[in-house]
Amino acid sequence: MNFKVTSDRLQSITSDLEIILVINKDFKHTFVQDAKILKKAGFDANHEESYLIPHKARLYVGSESIKSTDIRSAIAVAIREFKGKGFKSAKIGTYMSHPKCTAVLRGMVEGIILGSYSFERYKSKKKSKKLQDIIISLEEYHNFELDLETCQKATITAKISADATNYSRSIVNTPPDDCYPQTLAKMATKLAKKHGLECSILQPKELKKEKMNALLAVARASRHAPKVIHLSHKPKNPKAIISILGKGLTYDSGGLSLKPADYMVTMKADKSGGAAVMGIMKAVAQMNMPIEVHGFVGAVENMIGGDAYKPDDVLIAKNGKSIEVRNTDAEGRLVLADLLCYAQQEVQADYIFDMATLTGACVVGVGHYTSGVMGNSKVPVEMVLNASNTISGEMATKLDFNRYLGRTLKSGIADICNISNTRYGGAVTAGMFLSEFIDEHHKNRWAHIDIAGPAFVEHAWGENPIGASGAGVRMMLRLIEKLTRDGGHSTHH
Ligand code: BES
Ligand code: ZN
Ligand code: ZN
Repeated sequence: MNFKVTSDRLQSITSDLEIILVINKDFKHTFVQDAKILKKAGFDANHEESYLIPHKARLYVGSESIKSTDIRSAIAVAIREFKGKGFKSAKIGTYMSHPKCTAVLRGMVEGIILGSYSFERYKSKKKSKKLQDIIISLEEYHNFELDLETCQKATITAKISADATNYSRSIVNTPPDDCYPQTLAKMATKLAKKHGLECSILQPKELKKEKMNALLAVARASRHAPKVIHLSHKPKNPKAIISILGKGLTYDSGGLSLKPADYMVTMKADKSGGAAVMGIMKAVAQMNMPIEVHGFVGAVENMIGGDAYKPDDVLIAKNGKSIEVRNTDAEGRLVLADLLCYAQQEVQADYIFDMATLTGACVVGVGHYTSGVMGNSKVPVEMVLNASNTISGEMATKLDFNRYLGRTLKSGIADICNISNTRYGGAVTAGMFLSEFIDEHHKNRWAHIDIAGPAFVEHAWGENPIGASGAGVRMMLRLIEKLTRDGGHSTHH
């Protein structure tokens, strides 16, 4: 999809389609040229409602407000609905909330790209005919005078961020027989070559040497060997150093604590955290961010077999802590335990974030659309909350640790148990389990993001299509961009 930003007036631009946003039901605005027809047709301009006037080739889209999050979801829904109608080019005006702030423009461009996405690799007949050319006129909703170069830059950034999200979506949507740890490793190698990232892949032999026994135990019954992927973006004189880790379970059958049939379906999406890391690294390189960013993916398949790890096993993690396994379906935290230890050994980061489809409990607690954010310290948790809710279009909420839930992870035989002894608070106890693998000096620099809800939903919502959403990519990019502006060497120990 090509974007062109121009100072030409809308009227003078020729295209197959014109897209017009009706903001807060304001049919009187000069952009709305067909108020009578729209009223007659029963178009109320409710949020995410759209209406095409075929003979005028005008697509009207309702948006509740001119906030970037609303514009993004409204236009994405419209684009998704009208995909396949055969329009090749479209023109649209610019919408801003302030003459100097390009967030709404970015939301609009992201919405167009995110709404155009569909995963058709396995369909013999490809259905959608996507829009190819989008022409954005700097004719602005409030008549603001806009700077062409600033708007072009914002459009490019938006495209990088949305393309990275779609890249991540496609990894997650790929079936488990076509996407296993080696596949992810190959993709990472390719990504690194293309975008100038450093990349190292740890093979099972090296994982043994690194004493990542918990990760190896989870992987043992699979015919696909586990891999740990480390991608890095290292600009000169970085403003901060951050590590981002992802749970990359290319399939989670539950292991011997086998999932019931209904719960196993969609577990190809258990690699969403890892896929998000890959998308983030792609965008970080393309944006050439002045932050040193390290991405780690624990790529593992959790299967059953004579060689499987078992409930009752005791595993010694990389940091020497012993873990009593009572449920092999709580495998993500075992993989992340070792991955966190490895990342801390390799990189002295200002901040460490991990993203994982870690618990069904998080979905029960906060619903399908929201991530749960946890940690020992306010700062990194709030960095995530600010980056996601205000501007990225992703929703996230804080879940608090407390010592009483911490105690439910006690084990009679080992240092800690991989499940808690209560069925309540499962998202928090999983997060508290992870915190056992954060070194003392990193404790205040770490946040855990449980993306189990939004990562994969079996219906479309807002800018997200059915299936993978690419959760985590846009929120972390916003977080890194903010660090770029504020600087980020953490001083709090
Ligand atoms: N990958 C699942 C969590 C999950 C569930 C993600 C639903 C997305 C949707 C994870 O490995 C898991 O199975 N967790 C268990 C933990 C339990 C055994 C303590 C769960 O949530 O039931
Ligand atoms: Zn599991
Ligand atoms: Zn899992």
